[in-house]
Amino acid sequence: MVIKKHGDILSSEITDEHLFLNRRNFVRAAVLAGTTTATALLYRRFAIPAPVPAQVAANIEGVKSSTPDVAVPPPPADARTPYEKITNYNNYYEFTTDKEDVARLARNFTTRPWTVEVGGLVQKPKTFDIDDLIKLAPQEERVYRFRCVEGWSMIIPWVGFPLAKLLSAVEPLGGARYVAFESVVRPKEMPGQREGTLDFPYVEGLRLDEAMHPLTILATGIYGKVLLPQNGAPVRLVVPWKYGFKSAKAIVKITLTEREPPTTWNLATPSEYGFYSNVNPQVDHPRWSQATEQRIGEFGRRDTLMFNGYADEVAQLYAGMDLRRYF
Ligand code: MTE
Repeated sequence: MVIKKHGDILSSEITDEHLFLNRRNFVRAAVLAGTTTATALLYRRFAIPAPVPAQVAANIEGVKSSTPDVAVPPPPADARTPYEKITNYNNYYEFTTDKEDVARLARNFTTRPWTVEVGGLVQKPKTFDIDDLIKLAPQEERVYRFRCVEGWSMIIPWVGFPLAKLLSAVEPLGGARYVAFESVVRPKEMPGQREGTLDFPYVEGLRLDEAMHPLTILATGIYGKVLLPQNGAPVRLVVPWKYGFKSAKAIVKITLTEREPPTTWNLATPSEYGFYSNVNPQVDHPRWSQATEQRIGEFGRRDTLMFNGYADEVAQLYAGMDLRRYF
């Protein structure tokens, strides 16, 4: 994102991916060749994060693979991004800005007990225990394209349920027009919050009709398994036609409001990040093009699709709006 003012984030992202692969090969070779001490010295010498042993999350029971009562497009035909990549290449500034080190730093993050306070302009405000929240609606698998504003993308089989189910349960009042999301603040467990790279809590927002759209989900898992901390456990937002930063992780508060709520990246750099953040290959980021993307695990770049490939489902939400102005 914007923290390090690179001249050209896009190419550094590509370099990142090569580095990622090279480091892994290097680390593997080092582990095979050396003793534990020698390897530890190598990590220190080259400042390479030590590899995290594979993390295994618990399975989620009773996930429905189809969606019974909402119209959702079929999953993209492209290959799903491997679990290991989804769980080891993360943006989560509460822990670190190093995508390959989030998994290690988030490993012991506690996700129980956990509550989500839902209030603001609603008839029935309620603080949900996370385990009750998850039972509000059947858990569904949703295979979505995920496009980061930095230019990389994945195909992720999420497990979750439509945010609309939760919003309907609290009964929005007539004056509610927006939904604000707030992530957890826990500096003792989140080293990035002690460094103050961004102002925390991480906050995000959607227009109410975007939040109620059947594609918008609260995710609780990936690949049929409970979310690992690095992916936003125990519950995160996923809005597949918007850049990844709209998908706030580790949500503790949801507030319905009359006015457009502030959002973290817009507060940090308003000229670069707007409120809407719809994936749009025709509107460049001020410092790089958004026309193509690097699918993690692939060679070469592919064209980015309007609304990330979900135009048939969501374009009408923005009818008549100038998407260059409302970026
Ligand atoms: N949510 C919180 N609370 N903190 C963050 O730093 N990063 C965002 C988004 N949600 C972020 C967050 C960004 S920039 C992206 S691209 C996605 O999470 C990354 O999600 P992933 O790590 O599961 O791929």
